[in-house]
Formats: sequence, structure tokens, C-alpha cells
Amino acid sequence: MIECRGLAFARKGYDGVERQILQPLDLRIEAGERVVLLGVNGSGKSSLLRLLGGVAFATAGEYLFEGEAVNKRYFKAHGEHFRRSVALQMQEPASMLFNPTVYDEIAYGPRRFGLDEIEDRVAHFASLFGLEAHLKQNPLDLSGGEKQRVLLAALLALEPRVLLLDEPTAHLDPPASGHLIDLLQSLHVTTLISTHNLTLARELGSRALLLGRGGHLLYDGPLDALLHNEALLLQAELLHRHAHRHQGVSHSHYHLHDWS
Ligand SMILES: Nc1ncnc2c1ncn2[C@@H]1O[C@H](COP(=O)(O)OP(=O)(O)OP(=O)(O)O)[C@@H](O)[C@H]1O
Ligand SMILES: [Mg+2]
Repeated sequence: MIECRGLAFARKGYDGVERQILQPLDLRIEAGERVVLLGVNGSGKSSLLRLLGGVAFATAGEYLFEGEAVNKRYFKAHGEHFRRSVALQMQEPASMLFNPTVYDEIAYGPRRFGLDEIEDRVAHFASLFGLEAHLKQNPLDLSGGEKQRVLLAALLALEPRVLLLDEPTAHLDPPASGHLIDLLQSLHVTTLISTHNLTLARELGSRALLLGRGGHLLYDGPLDALLHNEALLLQAELLHRHAHRHQGVSHSHYHLHDWS
């Protein structure tokens, strides 16, 4: 369903210096797979998701969706089909909310693509995310976690076939995170979800992609095997050595960073 061949991304910063953000990578994700995207800050997770979500274009290599190269020409011919099929949740929810009310935000995609029973659809997805009381409010007047829930409800209301989620639980409280995980597990969609949280990763998928500093793809394989690969986790800086005090004795051992 998704294929990357030598896909790479470079970008010029505000300082005018061009930096390689993703090194050439090869990747295939089949329909129905649940893949977790791991890596430290700046390793390129959001950049990869943006490329796969069609809001940025590779500077080298190819991205194929359903066997067709996704580029500007593809969007001219198949943009609507792609947007209907692939939903991207970007890391900052506020950057994706632009409708005057929560109701309109959730209804936006279904209206745009001519889906039926808009009112029932909005009511259903609002209730899934506990948003019933906020339907008349402006999304930008809500809290961070509430904004995130509006964004997720709006994306899921389209019933896309591919969900690209960039740290979807980052702003959510424990019950909302748990609820989202249950919901994602009940959906028959292809998912690629970035997270820093290795405990959460187990709930989100069984295959892992690991990006290292400099945008190198360090690993593509079973998540379980990665979580037992101390050397690789150390290389990716997802594992750290800390000094600890246990019953008056100070020593240090490795820890998975799992605080987010
Ligand atoms: N608009 C941009 N212009 C220039 N460089 C950028 C831009 N966006 C991201 N970068 C650079 O690309 C690299 C990867 O960023 P990206 O946001 O993809 O990382 P990430 O893995 O999602 O990090 P985080 O865990 O902090 O969300 C970073 O070093 C960043 O400085
Ligand atoms: Mg990011």
C-alpha cells in the first residue's frame, strides 16, 4: 500500500543552511499493518509522516501509494482520492484546526467528500472523544488535550484507510489515551504512529521503525525484538544509564525513557 524507494528529505532552515533531515530509506507498509515510529527528538519522525501524508515532497527517491508515485502531478489527478484515503494528524493540533466550531471541524472532511448523514456522523465521533459539550465552541478556545481530541475526531470521521498519527497521545490524559488506544485497536485501518513512549508503543503496533539522529532508519522489524535489543536502543538513545539510590546503595543501570 505504501512504499518508499530511496526516499530522502533535505530542507533549508531559516538560517539559509540546507540540512539533510531524512537519509535515503526503503520501506513497505502493507494494508492493515500497524507500525510504530520511534526515535528521539529531531530524528525525523514528523518529517517522514509529513512526506507520507502528502504535505511535503521528498527531495530524492520515490514515495508510492497503491503503486503510484506521489508527486505534484499525482495530486493534480488523484489529490481527492489521496486525501480521502490518507489522514495525517500533525504534531501540533492547533496548526490543523481552522473551522469556527467543533461541529464544523468534525463535519469538514465528511462534507468535503460528500459523505452521508453528516449530523449522525458528527454526533458519533464527538461522543467517541467526549466532545458533546463542546460542539458549539471554537476549537481554538479549547485546552490542548481537547484540541487533540477534536483533531482526532475530525480525522476519523472521514473513515480513512491509512492513519498517520504524530504522537497522538502527547496532549491526552490517561483515560483519553487509553480510550484512543482501544479505539485504534478496534479499527481496520493501516496505521503508522509515532511515539516516544515505549510502553505505549506495544499497544499501538507490532512492527517498529526506528529513526536515529540524523534521520537514519536504524531498524525495521518486530517491535518486541527491538525492545530486547539493548545495543540498538542505546545507539538510538532511547535507553539511558542513570545513577540510582536503592536502600542507601548508589549504583547505575539502564533505563528505558518512558516519561511522555
Ligand atoms: N521547517 C523546517 N526547516 C528546517 N529544518 C527543519 C524543519 N522542520 C524540521 N526540521 C529539522 O528536521 C529534523 C527532524 O525534525 P522532525 O520534526 O521530523 O523530528 P521529530 O523526530 O519529529 O522530533 P520530535 O520528537 O521533537 O517531534 C530536526 O533536526 C529539525 O531541526
Ligand atoms: Mg515530531
